[in-house]
Amino acid sequence: MKVHIADHPLISHKLTLLRDERTDSPTFRRLVEELVTLLAYEATRDVRTQTVTIKTPVTTTQGLKLADPRPVVVPILRAGLGMLEGMVRLIPTAEVGFLGMVRDEKTLKASTYANRLPDDLSGRQCFVLDPMLATGGTLVAAFEFLLNLGATDITAICILAAPEGLSYVEKAFENSKVPITIVTGALDTKLNEHGYIVPGLGDAGDRLYGVV
Ligand code: URA
Repeated sequence: MKVHIADHPLISHKLTLLRDERTDSPTFRRLVEELVTLLAYEATRDVRTQTVTIKTPVTTTQGLKLADPRPVVVPILRAGLGMLEGMVRLIPTAEVGFLGMVRDEKTLKASTYANRLPDDLSGRQCFVLDPMLATGGTLVAAFEFLLNLGATDITAICILAAPEGLSYVEKAFENSKVPITIVTGALDTKLNEHGYIVPGLGDAGDRLYGVV
């Protein structure tokens, strides 16, 4: 598994604003979108392309275009939805599938409650959007779901990650033949006893959409 921890002053600046408890929901949502676009730039470094011939006003030349089939973007509901706009701004022609996962706050175990994905993901590059890589339970369950549908390449974009969650995902897929990559804005210090990332930013879903 490849892990890329973004190291860019713009990302650090936006993350600091995002973490601040005084940041309101509209600003939080805008910052998440901006951060995803910056992280997606790194996450799509190996996106598949094909060579095409085009005519400029001056001459005929060859260029690269995104290959078919297009990548599949999979936001994990609910909080991953806040990342979708920033991602499709960068790849407007991507297909979007949805995976609803919830974690039991006592056992911290993740389960799937909704799925709107193509039946067959063979040959597809998948980009999973989940803001908080905490215990890793949700991401492992989501990756397994996509692998069972035949996904051949998976990259997750997470705003923040905890070392515990990263190790958990790494261990779960250490023998995976499918390339798996995690791109995150920062690797935080630890998880607290409630499974929250420290220093973190609190509950991403609540900060995006309010407490339900
Ligand atoms: N989910 C969140 O929204 N925040 C955390 O810190 C951990 C999991």
